[in-house]
Amino acid sequence: MRIAAAVLEAFGAPLELQELDLAEPKSGEVLVRLAACGICHTDLYTASGADPSGYAPTVLGHEGAGVVEAVGDGVVSVAPGDHVVTLFSPQCRACVHCLDDRTNLCLAIREQQNLGFLPDGTTRLSRDGEPVRHFMGTSTFAEYTVMPEIALAKISPDAPLDEACVFACGLSTGLGAAMNTAKVHAGATCVVFGAGLVGLGAVAGCRLQGAERIVAVDLSADRLELARGQGATETLVGGPDTVQQILDLTGGFGADFTFEATGLVAVMRQAVESARMGWGLATVCGVAGKGETLDIVPRYLITGRRIAGSSFGGVKGRDQVPQLVDRWLAGEIDVAPLVSHRLALADVNRGFELMEAQDGIRSVIAFDS
Ligand SMILES: NC(=O)c1ccc[n+]([C@@H]2O[C@H](COP(=O)([O-])OP(=O)(O)OC[C@H]3O[C@@H](n4cnc5c(N)ncnc54)[C@H](O)[C@@H]3O)[C@@H](O)[C@H]2O)c1
Ligand SMILES: [Zn+2]
Ligand SMILES: [Zn+2]
Repeated sequence: MRIAAAVLEAFGAPLELQELDLAEPKSGEVLVRLAACGICHTDLYTASGADPSGYAPTVLGHEGAGVVEAVGDGVVSVAPGDHVVTLFSPQCRACVHCLDDRTNLCLAIREQQNLGFLPDGTTRLSRDGEPVRHFMGTSTFAEYTVMPEIALAKISPDAPLDEACVFACGLSTGLGAAMNTAKVHAGATCVVFGAGLVGLGAVAGCRLQGAERIVAVDLSADRLELARGQGATETLVGGPDTVQQILDLTGGFGADFTFEATGLVAVMRQAVESARMGWGLATVCGVAGKGETLDIVPRYLITGRRIAGSSFGGVKGRDQVPQLVDRWLAGEIDVAPLVSHRLALADVNRGFELMEAQDGIRSVIAFDS
């Protein structure tokens, strides 16, 4: 079929709206009609050329939500008409990692996905007979996509898809960091550095786990206000004195759980240093720049602080994204304030500009608009 897609033609150049050919889903694959797709830093990181493993041409986009149109042979977990969220982090339910509660890093299709291919090593996207590679296994800046069955979470049909798409990446990452990686306990004191989509998700996750105090730290007053809406009980404007301010707020000890959601290694260090002596856990969600390292004085660790990293919040996507969506539908998570702009696919570059200007938390491509 012919589809409209936003194509990364050359690094550093705007995405181009083009017509591409999309082949039928093969065995184990699913054709999805996109209803909505969030615009994320990772898309821009690749579009800019900063990502050393990036390639072009490709169709970016990885925060998709849509409807199953057709399925290939052997697909049993979704059927035409099902509503789905796309997963750049799949769940095969069979590999050694999927069978272990301790991680969500499915091993099934990593290699081919990183190279831009579907699991059989080929693409369904092409242009004038030339293959066009997929991105993150998703390529959701397009009217339709073909994806592996193991990379689709079937969600409630009651969930509005133009908001459900934020569960495909940042929101689930933050929620899961608090719920799965840190396993925040009731009564805990938490600090969240960064109040973008990931940090706001972490604030909400801490609240859902029953944290007593949630301190949000950001540079933007607007974002700190949004953090209050997600459950932050205190807010701080970030800066060089933030660690001391957190120690002052916690009787000199630091917080039970800290979360970093900025991508800045200096803030990761603050997250470690403001975790409590004895048992404080710092969870790192941010993606640092290429080649950057984290500078920690080992005494912080000897005296009982720990560091954990979290990819997609440790969320096993096919099992847990539907559960998180259900908690949203039950009124436990407030998603509406996180979606600030709804754009047409042709305006995807405007979405990048809004993101760089920190205008709103997420711009979403709405395919019906
Ligand atoms: N681990 C994962 O699986 C995963 C998934 C999605 C995103 N990420 C990463 O998480 C990070 C956050 O993503 P996002 O979409 O929320 O980004 P974002 O840019 O919207 O949010 C980052 C926030 O950090 C704030 N900030 C900047 N300097 C600060 C400081 N010194 N102290 C406190 N706050 C400060 C900014 O004001 C901003 O609000 C990024 O690095 C992103 O690449 C990781
Ligand atoms: Zn993302
Ligand atoms: Zn797996």
